[in-house]
Amino acid sequence: MLQVPKGTYDVLPPDAARREGLEGHAKRILEAAGYRRIETPTFEATELFARGVGEATDIVQKEMYSFDDGGGRSLTLRPEGTAPVCRAYIEHGMHKLAQPVKFWYLSSFYRAEAPQRGRYRQFWQVGAEAIGSAAPATDAELIVLLAELLDALGVRARLRLASLGSPETRAAYRDQLTDYLRGHSDELAPEVRARIELNPMRAFDSGDRRTREVMREAPKLLDQLAPEDAEHFAAVRTLLDDAEIRYEVDPTLVRGLDYYTRTLFEFTSDELGAQSGVGGGGRYDRLIEQLGGAPTPASGWAAGVERMLLASGERPVAAELVDLFVAIADPGGSRPAFALTRQARGAGLAAQLELAGRSLKGQLKHADRIGARYVAIVNDSAGTTSLKNMESGEQRDLGPAEVIPTILRGSRLS
Ligand code: HAM
Repeated sequence: MLQVPKGTYDVLPPDAARREGLEGHAKRILEAAGYRRIETPTFEATELFARGVGEATDIVQKEMYSFDDGGGRSLTLRPEGTAPVCRAYIEHGMHKLAQPVKFWYLSSFYRAEAPQRGRYRQFWQVGAEAIGSAAPATDAELIVLLAELLDALGVRARLRLASLGSPETRAAYRDQLTDYLRGHSDELAPEVRARIELNPMRAFDSGDRRTREVMREAPKLLDQLAPEDAEHFAAVRTLLDDAEIRYEVDPTLVRGLDYYTRTLFEFTSDELGAQSGVGGGGRYDRLIEQLGGAPTPASGWAAGVERMLLASGERPVAAELVDLFVAIADPGGSRPAFALTRQARGAGLAAQLELAGRSLKGQLKHADRIGARYVAIVNDSAGTTSLKNMESGEQRDLGPAEVIPTILRGSRLS
């Protein structure tokens, strides 16, 4: 039997309804704050992610779906949305607009990761990016908006917060951390040891018990921020305190993308097991410049759609609304039944027509199962109809023209 590729899945209608609900919350919350929808292409030049996300990251090193476009150019299915949004900002000269330019997206992303619950090779993210503001209020507002989204979805998540300072501070710190790790290399997990030079910060992310012990004593970047970075971080925290957002300052917080500067944050949920990250982001003040634009401060976040749905406890969505089910008592009634269904939809009712050739009894059972408020039983080619209120059980014979006005008038038939 043919099946979907490993790490991908079909979105079936009941899942689609939950996703639509999620999208509705994201749109309401983000657009009310001035974020506007953006959609970038599914694939981009590989170089965008190599430069944007960072050559040393897991994403670029081993998780990208890259291919030759047939003309010798390497393209990649987007593994994330921030670099593409920045590319679009530069490409369309959006620095000329009032700043910051605030975007949101709900798009699919692709990473060749080992699939497990909450981790897929094609997944979806809701993301928000504010480009052109260095203000701590932008970071705090973004965090508040993600907290509101998670809240609206019933996702209970813990917020961890840190600051990475500037790349210069980080470079000096990196040398210090590398020295420290070299000094403890025989206590580290082999995969951490192998990456001391390439990406020493990831050692904070290790699940290995002995590595974690070593990392507890390691020097922390947060203690070494330059005064202006420390001030920025303090301002973000004050605003979050004012907004009554609970968070934990975590100097060991690391994220798998290289573009971050200053504010860094992640929401995690205990409902998710090993893949506990529901959403995260931070400031990326150097990325636009790195991609060829003018120096432009920016910050943003993305949250996984599947993980938010998993963490919201698979709460069932409200049943589909069916105002009217049009049943056919006699084959002669099929033409007027078809017309009645169309007219009902034209009048704004959610109407479904019998399409399976069931007995009348079977049709009524089906109407009940789908939760139809009314059933119109079309009896003959003249369109004579018995309208049944499924809630009260009342039934009345009507001419074809009377059915829709009767439903629109309300639930009482007599
Ligand atoms: P990220 O942390 O790599 O950040 O991804 C954001 C979220 O996407 C994660 O918290 C998780 O919920 C979801 N996610 C990531 N990988 C997978 C996967 N394989 N399967 C299912 N869900 C996944 C970014 O992508 C940054 N672009 C966020 C950002 C925006 N930073 C600044 N602006």
